[in-house]
Amino acid sequence: MQAHVLGSGAGGGFPQWNCNCDNCARFRQGAINARARTQSSIAVSADDTEWVLINASPDIRAQIDAFPAFQPARARRDTGICAVVLMDSQIDHTTGLLTLRESGVPLDLYCTDMVHQDLTSGFPVLSMLEHYCGVNWHPLPIDGSSFTIPKAGTLEFRAIQLSSKAPPYSPHRHNPHPGDNVGLAISDSATGGTLFYAPGLGKIEKHLKPFMADADCLLVDGTCWTNDEMQRREVGRKTALEMGHLYQFGPGGMIEALAEFPKPRKVLIHINNTNPILDEDSEERAILTREGIEVAFDGMNIDL
Ligand code: MLT
Ligand code: MN
Ligand code: ZN
Repeated sequence: MQAHVLGSGAGGGFPQWNCNCDNCARFRQGAINARARTQSSIAVSADDTEWVLINASPDIRAQIDAFPAFQPARARRDTGICAVVLMDSQIDHTTGLLTLRESGVPLDLYCTDMVHQDLTSGFPVLSMLEHYCGVNWHPLPIDGSSFTIPKAGTLEFRAIQLSSKAPPYSPHRHNPHPGDNVGLAISDSATGGTLFYAPGLGKIEKHLKPFMADADCLLVDGTCWTNDEMQRREVGRKTALEMGHLYQFGPGGMIEALAEFPKPRKVLIHINNTNPILDEDSEERAILTREGIEVAFDGMNIDL
């Protein structure tokens, strides 16, 4: 299996259009050793031809242009994207669906019942798409059972419930339901390789641990370095945990949590523009390197 990182940034990307935090300002001045990042999305493939898009970011058009495998050119109109899987109904994970409206066939879309409800009510992108290509909705099972996607060959997917948050426009924002957010364990039965992907992970609950321990690669939430990062950088008041993201540094943080899993390669993704790890010369980045934790970048390829 190939897992290709299309976008490694959190909502807003890096640099964020209206942000003059230390990172964003220094990036524009050319005064930081850091890469620009588009918003959160990956694609996986067993055969390098048919790709499953996991989350559809507002930056999808640029992400498609940057990844030639998405255009195999087998017909006048064609795409390498055979299906879309959504892990939640957040703007940074779903807005790109609107950009796929020119599809000649309904989009094969896999998401939970809760995400489907949000996307036909508070943020009705799926209802809007009915006026264009339409979607074939496949409800994503959250009972622990695995599922396959017809064109995705030997890939097997399993959605795992996560406690995080439904977005602000969800009718049940303040009334969490199973299926608001999921993690994905994706394995390739041909190679035996397994990826655990959770760009929004507020808490490493007990039921996740067997999946994480068993994976060959963990591609997990790297939004904020500290819980109070938004306040520290003077760009907001919400804590990382309030937004459903586990901070990295310090007691109870992601670095400590990942140390529990000796087997897998560990990679952070969904990096917020305020996070000091974006600076490749920073002390924070050096701490990650010492802990054996990588930071995903746009265009990164993980071979499993
Ligand atoms: C989040 O995961 O919290 C989002 O990136 C927020 C957003 O897209 O605005
Ligand atoms: Mn996000
Ligand atoms: Zn910023």
